[in-house]
Amino acid sequence: MSELMRPVFDADLIEKYGGEGPRYTSYPTAVQFSEDFGPAEYEAAIAESNRLPMPAGLSLYVHVPFCASPCFYCACNRVITRSTTAGQEFLVNLEKELRLVAPRFDRDRPVRQLHLGGGTPTFLSTEQIRQLMALLRTHFRFAPDAELGLEIDPRTVDPAGIRELRKIGFNRLSIGVQDLDPEVQKAVNRVHDTAMVASVLGAARGVGFESISVDLIYGLPLQTTTGFSRTVESIIHMNPDRISLFNYAHLPHLFKAQRQIQDDQMPSPATKLAIFRNTLARLLDAGYEFIGMDHFARPDDSLVKAKRDGSMVRNFQGYSTHGGLDLVSFGPSAISQVGDSFAQNHRKLEDWTVSLIEDRLPTARGLTRSSDDHIRADIIERIMCNGALDFPAVGRAHGLDFEQCFAAEIQRLQPLADDRLIELQEHGFKVTENGLLFLRAIAKTFDAYLAPAGQSQGRFSRIV
Ligand SMILES: C[S@@+](CC[C@H](N)C(=O)[O-])C[C@H]1O[C@@H](n2cnc3c(N)ncnc32)[C@H](O)[C@@H]1O
Ligand code: SF4
Repeated sequence: MSELMRPVFDADLIEKYGGEGPRYTSYPTAVQFSEDFGPAEYEAAIAESNRLPMPAGLSLYVHVPFCASPCFYCACNRVITRSTTAGQEFLVNLEKELRLVAPRFDRDRPVRQLHLGGGTPTFLSTEQIRQLMALLRTHFRFAPDAELGLEIDPRTVDPAGIRELRKIGFNRLSIGVQDLDPEVQKAVNRVHDTAMVASVLGAARGVGFESISVDLIYGLPLQTTTGFSRTVESIIHMNPDRISLFNYAHLPHLFKAQRQIQDDQMPSPATKLAIFRNTLARLLDAGYEFIGMDHFARPDDSLVKAKRDGSMVRNFQGYSTHGGLDLVSFGPSAISQVGDSFAQNHRKLEDWTVSLIEDRLPTARGLTRSSDDHIRADIIERIMCNGALDFPAVGRAHGLDFEQCFAAEIQRLQPLADDRLIELQEHGFKVTENGLLFLRAIAKTFDAYLAPAGQSQGRFSRIV
């Protein structure tokens, strides 16, 4: 089987193209969501989706917002609490949300995918996760082969807990590791030893979890090239199916916990770059394939197969093997995508809870894509997933003359071609090995919302 293309590390290109950029888990991005979109608009979008001749299958997401302690780097929407009743109260309100939302979807639309994220889903006890799944199964019909995944913080689960999760029906998991160096862990207030991670991963493999994924972050305080390469070696040794290597997004004006990170402990840009270069080289040498953005996977993983046959998609959960599903999300800050509409719940736990107590859908903002948004979303997804664009194919898919409609964008591709990030072809282009690390810099050529240089500063994370 042919290998996927390997990204080339080039410090000059990183300097030029590694600046801020949207992650394009949606287009338009959440920055464009408006409060003009509320419960009525979400209800209308659901009703319309049922009316299609072949209504889409469903992908469910539940945002469990709680964590027992704050990791200082964290940019997720979470509530730090030690409350022993928070989990149960959350389930009561989640049930209310399910009662409001689920009956609006035709009952015969199968759930093909479920993801529990957060926060820390395993903040809930095993019994509470079992209750949560029972609630979902009461309100939706799950396909027998549905992918059921959740995020695991290794401090919250032991091998026995993993076996229980498998019995409940989960078949994929993603383990938040970030770094195994004890000094780095102390600096970010997230301490767990390597053996804990290895035992969770080993238990998951032993009971047949299919796609086991590990999250790492580079750019954290006190990280060094030697320290991080030890982490990478340990993880390679544990052999997860997928590895996400995130660039630490340091946005202390948005995430208060990040203000706990001391500036003088941050690795220098040169160290950070060296960590990234070494890790990239090591993961490729160890046989991981580069999927795109920050994602790597073993050659036999379903994501690599999907990437190879062109069926991989990109949505709020990152890269995925399942295309064509409507995403129905629950919990504070959760974003649904139904047809061409995005609906985001209240971000704050209290606001979400009050809506449900008052029997109102907790939709706080969103948008319905225009036909221009819809076409650009398709273009951006093709770039992010396939690393190529065939102009006439897009034109045929949307009934337009691509080269005429996007003449300005095609012109803006020229500098990317001059820098060899892409190779222009007669009627399209292909991302080169030099361009693979800059998919979002290439995709943003087609983003109609991006402010002129400088104006979006501090809203998006750096690309590399
Ligand atoms: C939504 S978090 C939840 C994971 C789970 N609570 C845990 O800690 O294991 C998912 C992932 O986002 C990544 N992440 C969180 N904050 C980040 C930041 N500031 N920059 C880059 N990645 C971040 C981490 O790798 C984390 O595992
Ligand atoms: S990284 Fe995970 S466990 Fe840590 S604060 Fe963020 S969501 Fe919670």
